[in-house]
Amino acid sequence: MNRRQFCVSAASVGVAATTGVAASEGALQTDGAAAASKPVDGAPNLFTPLKLRGVTLRNRIAMSPMCQYSSEDGFANEWHVAHHAARAVGGVGLLLAEATGVTPQGRITPNCLGIWKDEHIPALRKVTEFVSAHGGVPGIQLAHAGVKASRHRPFHPTPNAFVPLEEGGWMPVGPTAKRYGQDGPVPHELTAEEIRAITAAFAAAATRSLAAGFRVVELHFAHGYLGHSFLSPLMNERKDEYGGSFDNRARFLLESVRAVRAVLPDETPLLVRLSCTDWVDGGWTLDDSVEVSRRLAKEGVDLIDCSSGGASRQAQIPVGPSYQTPLAERIRREAGIATGAVGLITEPAQADAIIAEGKADLVLLGRELLRDPHWPHRAWTALKPASPPPIAREYAWALPETRR
Ligand SMILES: Cc1cc2nc3c(=O)[nH]c(=O)nc-3n(C[C@H](O)[C@H](O)[C@H](O)COP(=O)(O)O)c2cc1C
Repeated sequence: MNRRQFCVSAASVGVAATTGVAASEGALQTDGAAAASKPVDGAPNLFTPLKLRGVTLRNRIAMSPMCQYSSEDGFANEWHVAHHAARAVGGVGLLLAEATGVTPQGRITPNCLGIWKDEHIPALRKVTEFVSAHGGVPGIQLAHAGVKASRHRPFHPTPNAFVPLEEGGWMPVGPTAKRYGQDGPVPHELTAEEIRAITAAFAAAATRSLAAGFRVVELHFAHGYLGHSFLSPLMNERKDEYGGSFDNRARFLLESVRAVRAVLPDETPLLVRLSCTDWVDGGWTLDDSVEVSRRLAKEGVDLIDCSSGGASRQAQIPVGPSYQTPLAERIRREAGIATGAVGLITEPAQADAIIAEGKADLVLLGRELLRDPHWPHRAWTALKPASPPPIAREYAWALPETRR
């Protein structure tokens, strides 16, 4: 049996991986959510284009945003071009650039990508131009790391440790003056005025994203970073209009969405990534996500990207193939909004079934696309859909399965 080990820092990526998890084709067969595709008459499949506002994705395969921790002062460089170019040539429909800081303090590490100044635009444009020229749609995830900011990157000798102020680190901020990790200073509790300044920074970053050629914008409200930390009662203990009741905890999200939607043209889709459950009693729940998604749909959000976790180290996460797909399925059904499924989706039949059975409108792949940038071509070869192969003409002519 072909066993692959998954082991990624939950703190940095918001995936459940306290001990790592084995995924395999064998495990896939035992997971109901990942059953083989049952053709449904008229139902879309993995290769059916997806239209969101004025943007049509060539298929339902998205690259999940993945920090590359390879920037200096927030600037994109050749690495970012190569990372996106490989997956655009590989046939991915939507390529979401990593969590990109809307302010310098909003970066997880000093090496995270940023979009807090106009000078960042030209280098990002090189990424979007290549992606667009090869049939992909470039999207960007706008982010603020909140209390999880100012950490060393995972491949630093002291991974995820707090970067002291005298070494170029900065004071983390959050809804509440409460640490997430063991080390580092107690974060600064944001004032209402400072919260509104960050909302404005999200809108300014969205404007710069358009100038850089991005055609889809996603707001990062997951994984215990700033947005999610306002939603979750585990991280938000405020007593003012941004804390306490559900309405108050959702205020920062709704105000940010309104501010960003106001600067986006009608044809530009807006996505929100949520941690749809904290997986902890007393935390943010799937019911909460359904309710907030209904409100987001009314505010002009087009798709909820359904992730989970990141607010508490006590979370009990049932990690396994497609483990977050039921979150996407329920929000899609009950909130009347398109959803994206993410998390241990690795096999073509598994991904196709999620779309064909109406569990989500889009599948997002993270680590599997790191392993294989040509995964869409592999899926096309395995599934044999009627649609044209998702492969660049420079390669298609040379391969027996795509030669005309
Ligand atoms: C290297 C790496 C970096 C990541 N960075 C981000 C990020 O910037 N924003 C985000 O929302 N999730 C991030 N994630 C989480 C992924 O987007 C995805 O949700 C997670 O890996 C589960 O999907 P997978 O099982 O297909 O990898 C990251 C994951 C990895 C492996």
